[in-house]
Formats: sequence, structure tokens, C-alpha cells
Amino acid sequence: MKITPGEGAVDWIRVCALDAVPRDGAVAVLVGDAQVTVVRLADDTLYAVSHRDPVSGANVMARGIVGSATVDGVEVPTITSPMFKQVYDLRDGRCLTDRGAVLATWEVRLHGGDVEIGPTRVGAGSATAADGPTDTEVATTS
Ligand code: FES
Repeated sequence: MKITPGEGAVDWIRVCALDAVPRDGAVAVLVGDAQVTVVRLADDTLYAVSHRDPVSGANVMARGIVGSATVDGVEVPTITSPMFKQVYDLRDGRCLTDRGAVLATWEVRLHGGDVEIGPTRVGAGSATAADGPTDTEVATTS
């Protein structure tokens, strides 16, 4: 299924069954032209972030390690890049190990046993969805 960027009231898009995503794991799905990593925590909380590692530029984040980190005394869910091991806060895509790199994030919800991605990306990360395949992303080195 293809979403046309900029289209008005685009609905939520079913991307896979919840059962297709391992607990404390992730899968990559295609939403329009955007490669999105859907993450499922042990308690079935879902997150959706860019599949593209913003530092390396490779589409690998679904192979990252899902875990958690303590930030200001609060435990936050994370995904660690399999490339260079940056750790990202799954809630907003911010890199916790340094500043600069941000994963784009999407709204995601569970609907009748299916995972659905919202029509717009919500994070500050410069990734793919709204811009389509011509999007150029500046890799951040730290
Ligand atoms: S390690 Fe996160 S931006 Fe460099």
C-alpha cells in the first residue's frame, strides 16, 4: 500500500499483526516510501521509529537491541543501533548517548490485533515518511 505524502485525511495504516512482532523485539515495515521499525515491549507497548540509522545511514534499526536506560532517575525504553551502538529513546527518538542524532518517530497503535501506523511522523528526526525517497538525510557524527 502506498501513501501519497501531503494527502489530506490519510487514515492509520495497518502494517502487520501484533503477533508478527516479537516481544522485546522489532520488525521493519514499509509505510509508503518510509521504512519504519515497529518495536514491541514485553508489556505490548508499541513504538515506531525510523528503520534508518541516522548515523550510518543504513536501514538496520529493526535489528537493534530493545532495552531500557535510566534518564534522570526514570527508566525509559530504548533501542540500540546495531551499527555503532548509539542508544535512542523510543518515545521521541532522541539519542541518549550523545546529542545530535534523532530517529524519526511515528504514531503507532494496536487495533484489533493489528499494528497500525499513524499518517504523520511525530518526532523531530529527519527521516523518510513525509519527504519520500528523495529525502536527503545528513548523517551526524559525534
Ligand atoms: S552517539 Fe548519539 S549522536 Fe553521536
